[in-house]
Amino acid sequence: MLLEGQVAIVTGAGRGIGRAIAKRFAAEGASVVLAARTAAEIDAVAREIGAAGGKAVPITADVAQIADCGRIVKAARDAFGTVHILVNNAGIYGPVRPVEQIDPAEWDEVMAVNLRGAFQLSALVLPQMYAQKSGVILNVVSAAAKAAYQWGGAYAASKAGLIGLTHTLAAEGARKGVRVNAISPGPVLETDMSRRLRGELANFRGGDSAAIGEQMAQGTLQGRPQTADEIASTAFFLASDLASAITGQTVNVDGGIVFY
Ligand SMILES: NC(=O)c1ccc[n+]([C@@H]2O[C@H](COP(=O)([O-])OP(=O)(O)OC[C@H]3O[C@@H](n4cnc5c(N)ncnc54)[C@H](OP(=O)(O)O)[C@@H]3O)[C@@H](O)[C@H]2O)c1
Repeated sequence: MLLEGQVAIVTGAGRGIGRAIAKRFAAEGASVVLAARTAAEIDAVAREIGAAGGKAVPITADVAQIADCGRIVKAARDAFGTVHILVNNAGIYGPVRPVEQIDPAEWDEVMAVNLRGAFQLSALVLPQMYAQKSGVILNVVSAAAKAAYQWGGAYAASKAGLIGLTHTLAAEGARKGVRVNAISPGPVLETDMSRRLRGELANFRGGDSAAIGEQMAQGTLQGRPQTADEIASTAFFLASDLASAITGQTVNVDGGIVFY
């Protein structure tokens, strides 16, 4: 169990990729703090982890709210004393429309969740990570940050911004024992976000949501979607000492979409 004794915060842990990461970390021995807005979902994941013999604490919070970010970190310290791993996974896709049809308030909401939330939580955990001379931050970005797709301008910009923040955090933390990396999934078709995106694309441009999913899968070299568990495996690797020399990187877990 390579994460034994580690304390991890996973945002967006109620379902999808965040749930898979939280369960994988707990199975590897970490104590996990599960943050999201929907209490029923994080409570259910905490029960699943507990039933499997792991340790997890749910905290209902909105990462777009600065005070809620503080409550997440406090919950981790109250329950487990410190934080060794922060996974900034909570995210929303936002408007599925051309840029000229995006309202500035919609743009701001996507930035507040996907980018400012990650900034705020990182800022809150870093002083203690520096003091203990160890820590890992993982930011979940997207192939959309590096490839060029239509109708997700706010999402793509937020994820590209998060890659930039990953570089800066890695540079600032590298000599203080803190590693910071990003994970860039391709189409994880099994999640709510992906289902909603395919539904909105089908409404916006016409066509069938299942056919859109198949197109997304065929846009990878492997010709298939990624699973939440495959993303969680990469998160586990990067969070563990197996990745002790890896920092400032964006690991593409996309079946072959992006090659840099
Ligand atoms: N699925 C894909 O194809 C794909 C591809 C590339 C990247 N990603 C990225 O992977 C991450 C997880 O996505 P997913 O596909 O697993 O989506 P999902 O199933 O919709 O899960 C998103 C999670 O984030 C939480 N969340 C959303 N807004 C939040 C907020 N303001 N505060 C706190 N928690 C919030 C959600 O819970 P609540 O709604 O209850 O708050 C939920 O637990 C996202 O960052 C996404 O951009 C996904």
